[in-house]
Amino acid sequence: MWKPQGVDTAKFSNHQPDHPRTLVTGGAGFLGSHLCDRLLAEGHEVICMDTLLTGRRANIQHLLGHPRFTFLNHDATTPINLRRLLGFRVGVTSRESSESFRLDYLLHLASPASPKDYQRHPIHTLKLGALGTHHALGLAKAHGSVFLLASTSEVYGDPAVNPQQESYWGNVNPIGVRSVYDEAKRFAEALAMAYHREHGVEIRIARIFNTYGERMRADDGRAFPNFVVQALQGRPLTVYGDGSQTRSFCYVSDLVDGLCRLLQSQDIGPFNLGNPEEIPLLKLAQVILEVTGSPSGIVFKPLPSDDPGRRRPDISKAETTLRWHPKVHLREGIERVIPYFRSQLINARVDSPPKTGESPGIRPRRRNLLSKLEWFLRPTS
Ligand SMILES: NC(=O)c1ccc[n+]([C@@H]2O[C@H](COP(=O)([O-])OP(=O)(O)OC[C@H]3O[C@@H](n4cnc5c(N)ncnc54)[C@H](O)[C@@H]3O)[C@@H](O)[C@H]2O)c1
Repeated sequence: MWKPQGVDTAKFSNHQPDHPRTLVTGGAGFLGSHLCDRLLAEGHEVICMDTLLTGRRANIQHLLGHPRFTFLNHDATTPINLRRLLGFRVGVTSRESSESFRLDYLLHLASPASPKDYQRHPIHTLKLGALGTHHALGLAKAHGSVFLLASTSEVYGDPAVNPQQESYWGNVNPIGVRSVYDEAKRFAEALAMAYHREHGVEIRIARIFNTYGERMRADDGRAFPNFVVQALQGRPLTVYGDGSQTRSFCYVSDLVDGLCRLLQSQDIGPFNLGNPEEIPLLKLAQVILEVTGSPSGIVFKPLPSDDPGRRRPDISKAETTLRWHPKVHLREGIERVIPYFRSQLINARVDSPPKTGESPGIRPRRRNLLSKLEWFLRPTS
C-alpha cells in the first residue's frame, strides 16, 4: 500500500473544528515560512507544500516536530490530490474519514519571487502562475476553501502613475525579461477571478510590494539582501542605473499581519500590501552603509531592462477595509535584520568546504582574509 514518506496520517484523524486546516504552497520560502509560524500560533493545522526550489528546509526546520504541522514535498504545477498525498485510503474509516476531510484555507505562494530566481526558472515560473494556480484553485473549489493568492506589485510593471492604486491596470512589457513573472501573476489573478465568477470560489488577492526580513536568502539577488551582504562583507554596494529608481520596503511581520487580516476579511480585493515609505535605491544603499557602519563604497552598473522606475503602494484600501498599516519603519527594520544576515554569512563561511588539497582547519592564507572579515561580521550593540 502506497504511503507518503514522512507524513503522519494520525495527525489528520482528529481534526478539531476549532483548528482551521490550512495549506500553504511555497510554505518553506521566505514569506511562506513566516506565514506558517503565524498560522500555527493562531491555532491552525498547517500543511506546507514546497519543492524547496528557492525555499529552504532550514526555514521550517523548527516546525517539523510540531503536532499541527506537516510538510509535503510536492510540485504545485502537478495535480494536487491532497487526500492521497496525506495518505488517506478510500474505504478506511477514521475519526475523520477521507470523505469528510476538510481544507478551510489555501494560501498560494509557490513561485520564485526574485528576478534572479525567476529568470533562472522562466518556464517553471509561468507554469506556477498558470498550472499551479489552476490546481490550487481546483482544490479550493473541491473543499470550499478560502483561497488567497500571493500576487505582486509587479502586475503594475513599470508604472505610469505613482503611488499605485489597485485600480491601476499596469504597464507591463509582455515579452521582456521580467514578463515571465509579471504575466504569470497577472494570469493567476485573472484565473482566480474566473474561479470566483464561474464557481463561486471565495478568493482573496494580495498584491505584495517588496518585503524584507529574516529568512531571505542572502544570495537571492534582490537589492535589499545584496546591499546588506555587500556592506557586511566590506565590498562596494552595487547600484544599478543612477539609483534614483524608488522602491518601498515592508518588514515581514507587517506583511504577514496584512495577509492574515485579508484572509479573515470578506473582501476579495485586490489589496496592495506594502510599506508606503518610498526610497530611492541609492538612498537605501546609503542608509544600509550607515546602519552597518561599513566603510564600503558604492559602484554603479547599467540598469537592467524593464527595471521599474517607481514603486510605492497606495494602501488606503487596506487601511480602510482591513484596518492594516505597517508598523516597522525602514531604519528600524534594517537594524532588526542585520544580525540575521551576519549569521548567514558566518554559517556560509563555516560550511564552505576546504578547497582540494587544503586541510579542514583554517588555512593560513585565508586566515588573513577571515580576520579582515571579522571586523565586518562583528556583533554590534
Ligand atoms: N518577498 C517579496 O518581496 C514578494 C513580493 C511580491 C510578491 N511575493 C510573492 O510571495 C510569494 C513568496 O515569495 P518569497 O519571497 O517568499 O519567495 P521564495 O522564493 O522564498 O518562496 C517561494 C517558495 O515557493 C517554492 N516553490 C517553487 N516552485 C514550487 C513548486 N513547483 N511547487 C511547490 N513549491 C514551489 C519555493 O521552493 C519557495 O519555498 C511568491 O508567490 C511571490 O511572488 C513576494
